[in-house]
Amino acid sequence: DDYQADGHEHFMHKEIVEQPEAVHRCLRGRLDERFATAHLGGLNMDPREAREFRRVKILGCGSAYYAGQLGAQFIEEVARIPADAEPASEFRYRNPVIEKDTLYVAVSQSGETFDTLVAVQELKRKGGRVVGLVNVVGSSIARECDGGIYLHAGPEVAVASTKALTNMGVAFALLGIHLGRIRDLSPADGARLIAGLQRLPEQIEAVLKDEERLASIARRLSAAESLFYIGRTRGYPVAREGAQKLKEISYRHAEAYQTSELKHGPLALISPDVPTVAIVPDDDLVERNTGALHEIAARSGPLYVVTHPGVELGDVSAEPITVPKNETELDPIVLTIPLQLLAYHASRELGHDVDKPRNLAKSVTVE
Ligand code: AGP
Repeated sequence: DDYQADGHEHFMHKEIVEQPEAVHRCLRGRLDERFATAHLGGLNMDPREAREFRRVKILGCGSAYYAGQLGAQFIEEVARIPADAEPASEFRYRNPVIEKDTLYVAVSQSGETFDTLVAVQELKRKGGRVVGLVNVVGSSIARECDGGIYLHAGPEVAVASTKALTNMGVAFALLGIHLGRIRDLSPADGARLIAGLQRLPEQIEAVLKDEERLASIARRLSAAESLFYIGRTRGYPVAREGAQKLKEISYRHAEAYQTSELKHGPLALISPDVPTVAIVPDDDLVERNTGALHEIAARSGPLYVVTHPGVELGDVSAEPITVPKNETELDPIVLTIPLQLLAYHASRELGHDVDKPRNLAKSVTVE
């Protein structure tokens, strides 16, 4: 109960700023440089069992579901196990087939989200193997699961989740490396990803230093009634999370879309009144992404591009938001940070109750 906003105007701001330390806590004691792996004793999982999983299914709600989408991409890429995420709120109502050789992962900050809890209980009833990625120690979901990874983000008060979300990304990376290293992830790749994880706190710190500029961009964004957030592959969950955060606390309409799908419909909506926040990491899709930016610019859509140093946007007129580059698989964690600050400052600019947005509760513990 002694958790205070300590000099910050809002808890959300405090929680954004605490992220480097929160990531540090999530990594502490879990990285093994000698064997290039992650130690996750809380999983209660025998390596023999972990080698048999043929699929990973991740369940969570809202932002935790978007973190799950990121986690699924990471695990599939790094551990080479087919993985996907589904909202727990949907899963629980559709009588899904529960497979013995699937690892189910429930993700939740509070550990009390009712839809996620019921999904876990249903899985357990049918013999599914479920582990939890949960922040609140001893919470209902944490207790229901067969084991898990505590996020160690510390208490989170603002309804809009920030540091817990970031630590979900980190915990999925740890899980992916752990599973990968007992299957077919090479020691070199394990070491590369571990070094990347260790760079995260200082890279997040660097993004936080850009707050003033992000606040001024947020002022411009907050004037728009409707916005697009676009990204592809691992940039897409980042876009979804960015749009969700903006909707949640600024009450502006924001729609996340796959950049690749833009030309199949929403391009019709682009105009000088509809800004786009585009996620363009320095990866092998950069040329395709800049192609889409041209399409937007040609329709006079204002563009804000969350990107990495050295990415050439050519002659597209766009405002770049540059964040430090990590390993490609870990980039989404850093790319998300400026989007939190955009949403925070948009909400503040519009005079809304940043920490307690209308119609929302910190955890939805009812049907
Ligand atoms: C996040 O900013 C939202 N408040 C919301 O989507 C949240 O992530 C969701 O309700 C799940 O909460 P949980 O992580 O506590 O289960």
